[in-house]
Amino acid sequence: MTTTTTSPVLTATGVTMRFGGLTAVQAVDLDVHPGEIVGLIGPNGAGKTTFFNCLTGLYVPTEGSVAYRGTVLPPKPHLVTQAGIARTFQNIRLFANMTVLENVLVGRHTRTKEGLWSALLRGPGFKRAEAASKARAMELLEFTGLADKADHLSRNLPYGEQRKLEIARALASDPGLLLLDEPTAGMNPQETRATEELVFAIRDLGTAVLVIEHDMRFIFNLCDRVAVLVQGQKLVEGTSEVVQSDERVIAAYLGTPFEGAPGAEEAAEVEAAEAGATTGATGGATQDEAQRGTTARTEDGQ
Ligand SMILES: Nc1ncnc2c1ncn2[C@@H]1O[C@H](COP(=O)(O)OP(=O)(O)OP(=O)(O)O)[C@@H](O)[C@H]1O
Ligand SMILES: [Mg+2]
Repeated sequence: MTTTTTSPVLTATGVTMRFGGLTAVQAVDLDVHPGEIVGLIGPNGAGKTTFFNCLTGLYVPTEGSVAYRGTVLPPKPHLVTQAGIARTFQNIRLFANMTVLENVLVGRHTRTKEGLWSALLRGPGFKRAEAASKARAMELLEFTGLADKADHLSRNLPYGEQRKLEIARALASDPGLLLLDEPTAGMNPQETRATEELVFAIRDLGTAVLVIEHDMRFIFNLCDRVAVLVQGQKLVEGTSEVVQSDERVIAAYLGTPFEGAPGAEEAAEVEAAEAGATTGATGGATQDEAQRGTTARTEDGQ
């Protein structure tokens, strides 16, 4: 196998995930290259988190493969982490009754070589490894701005800091690729800007990033490339400019068919009739909704 420095850190090929009759992710190809920040966007229920779950071995894809630096990964979370992919969760998953530092140390365990006996006997090798792990964990807390909270129980952290702690814990496994699932959800604008800086800093230290977000300003500021998932399929992929100006993306977010799509003519007629019936402008509101990604979707994901 040839692995060059320019080969992708992530190669997802034809990833498909079906739940019974529902195809949540359909034949998605996606590469992430070293040094890149790639965005994954799409309306609620588009399959973004399911795709992450396929990448990290939490789900075994119905079809397709996931490779890290050219090597196909077995769909087992601990092997995926060991290979070099770390993630955070849309629904924060911290050990609530452990301290901030302990949470990061848990994330470190895949990179410590000390075995069970060494840990039980607490020999010099174990103590050295433990000290090194602590030092690294503290470094990561400094990096994420949580060092002064090292001894706090994680459940006592404000929401925004819990999200940062998830990032610190993910970084503890020294990943070559970090997957972030809605890292700014629930954050205020200031916290969101700080997270943006943090993601740039992570990339600058050599970890490629694939990030799911509904905050479009965050995504378009941050990402070198953006892929758009709609109903489980990759609809568009390109630079922020390309994605922003693609009418299919806007249509997908607004839930309206785009020109040439099935039902477009009928939708245009309804729209025209509605415009005639009401005097209020809806364009600004829907545009704003699209920016925040808060548009509703149909329950069946169609
Ligand atoms: N374990 C599961 N079993 C059955 N259906 C599932 C499962 N996980 C996800 N789905 C379905 O797959 C589809 C995609 O869900 P997913 O959570 O991946 O969307 P998403 O793009 O992350 O949405 P959001 O932006 O709301 O987080 C949805 O219809 C969801 O109900
Ligand atoms: Mg999701």
